[in-house]
Formats: sequence, structure tokens, C-alpha cells
Amino acid sequence: MKCKKCGGKAVINMRQHNMGLCKDDFIQWLQEQTQRHIEKQKMFTLAEKVLVAVSGGKDSLALWDILVTLGYQADGLYIALGIDEGIGYSAESQRLTEAFANARDLKLHIVNLAGEYGTDVPTLAKQTKRGRDKPCSACGLVKRHEMNRIARDFGYDVLATGHNLDDEAATLFSNTLQWNGDYLLRQAPVLEERNGLARKVKPLFRFYEREMAAYALLRGIEYIYDECPFAEGSTSTYYKELLNQLENQSPGAKQHFYTKFLAAKKKGLFAESTVEIIPELHLCPKCGQLTSARAECSFCKMMERVQKK
Ligand code: AMP
Ligand code: FES
Ligand code: ZN
Repeated sequence: MKCKKCGGKAVINMRQHNMGLCKDDFIQWLQEQTQRHIEKQKMFTLAEKVLVAVSGGKDSLALWDILVTLGYQADGLYIALGIDEGIGYSAESQRLTEAFANARDLKLHIVNLAGEYGTDVPTLAKQTKRGRDKPCSACGLVKRHEMNRIARDFGYDVLATGHNLDDEAATLFSNTLQWNGDYLLRQAPVLEERNGLARKVKPLFRFYEREMAAYALLRGIEYIYDECPFAEGSTSTYYKELLNQLENQSPGAKQHFYTKFLAAKKKGLFAESTVEIIPELHLCPKCGQLTSARAECSFCKMMERVQKK
């Protein structure tokens, strides 16, 4: 297969775009497309301070690489979750994230859950109801809370995560299976700033996971290959496999599923429900972040329970 731009040897074929590209043209294409999406969706400007949440995986490290290459002011945030039984998942992802930042002289914030709150995700998974039912949900709550906290405390304008199209399509599939209008309404590549919560953006929302893996590989980015041990056998992994089967049968299906959802939402699908479902928000008396709870937010409640034990 030939590169569509230069006629050289293609290293990747993107069937949904009917396009193969060589190494250099693919890297350039992906960076330019990211810039286009950032501008078109009004995610942020060169004058704004971006906090990139980096997990040590291919997507978030690639995102950081792209933003810095494009000239954006992007610092990193790594949250040490303490998931170290077995393969030492957290320690290894932290090592790779630090190596990436050091090699490029980039600023990296590190939040250590154990140091900050005296607990970690495996403990939450054992000792709290939310953790026992769904460790990834407890972990997600922690990550969101800490990302918001660092963005607010250090005055970042915007928080960027490495979610790609496969992640977004799997979330959409899950929300659609349950017709979860509340979540469908809030699923978007940009969530505007509200009451002190930084704007949240997903600049990689249009790229397939395999494209991000190819980018990381071609750019020589060292990232953690292993999945988080808690994610093994999760429903989102299963949904991704289902969507890939669909994609194999009909190239572009995954992309259409997600982009047509965004288009439908823009036209007003789900709009009527907004009135009932946007809950009234309060400030948590303990951490000062927004919450729909009357008293402390679910993060502070969970932490209090586990710290008592
Ligand atoms: P996940 O929830 O693991 O699918 O990750 C989605 C995004 O959340 C990643 O692309 C990162 O931007 C961010 N993220 C995940 N884990 C961490 C972490 N330990 N520290 C900072 N950011 C993270
Ligand atoms: Fe949070 Fe796996 S990274 S449970
Ligand atoms: Zn709180």
C-alpha cells in the first residue's frame, strides 16, 4: 500500500478514511488533525494553561507529546494510585511518565494517594462498598477529584485527558444500552468550565485506539503496555471488542456511531430532558469541590469511611 500524500511505502492503513500513510506523513497528519479538532471545538488556545492527565499509557503520553509539539503550554499530572500487587502497574506507569517528562524537560505534578490520603485504590476496592462493587468506579471518582483539585489549585484553564474514539464509543454504547439520558447529555469532547471546575477536553476523541498506538510507536514513546489489573474482564473492554467486530465488518462504523451521536445531540436530541436532570450543585464543605450531594461529596465520604477503618 502506498502513502496517499507522498507515494512512499505506507505504514498504516486507515480504512475508515480510505487512506494509507507513511511514517512521516502519518505523524504530521495526526498532529495537524489534533490541532484542527482543538480549534474547531474551541478546546483551548496557545495563551491558555493546559493540565494533561497522564497515566503512562499510550494515549495520554502521545497527547502530551502532540500538544508540546504544537506549541501549547502543557504540564502533566500523574496520580499514583498504588495498584502494585502483581505486575507493579502503578510504579511502572509512574516511572515511564517521569522518564517522558524528564527527557523533554516538562513540568509534571505527581499526586500520591497514599501520601495525600493514607490510602490507595486496592484498599478502596476492599474496604468501601463502591470499591467492592466496581473498583474502577471508585478509582474514577478519585481520579476526577484529584484532577479537578490540581487544576484549580494551580490555576490551569483546562484539563485534558487522553480518551480516544474507542473509549468514547464504548462509553456511548454502555450509556445507550441503558438509555442513560443524564450521561448521554454530558458525554462530549468539551465540557465547559463551571463554578471553578476547569474546562475538560478530550483532544484525541476522533482517533482510533490503533492509530494512537501507531503514533506512540512511531514517535518512540515508551509507554506501559499492560492494562490495569482491575480493568481485566470489564464491560468496557467487552464493548470495545464488540465495536471492533462491527468495525471489521463495516469500516467506519465505530466512528459513525460516535460522530453521528454528537451531531444528533447538537440538533437537540436529549435537549428536552436538560431541565429535569441537571441537578442542583453545592460546594462540598470539606474539599470545596462542586457536588450534587447535600453535604459532603462522594469522594470525601468514601475517604472518610476508609480512613476510619
Ligand atoms: P482511563 O480512565 O484509564 O481509561 O484513562 C482515561 C484518561 O484518564 C487517560 O487518557 C488519562 O488522561 C487519564 N488518567 C488515567 N489514569 C491516570 C493517572 N493515574 N494519572 C493521571 N491521569 C490519568
Ligand atoms: Fe483505576 Fe484501573 S486504573 S481501577
Ligand atoms: Zn469533597
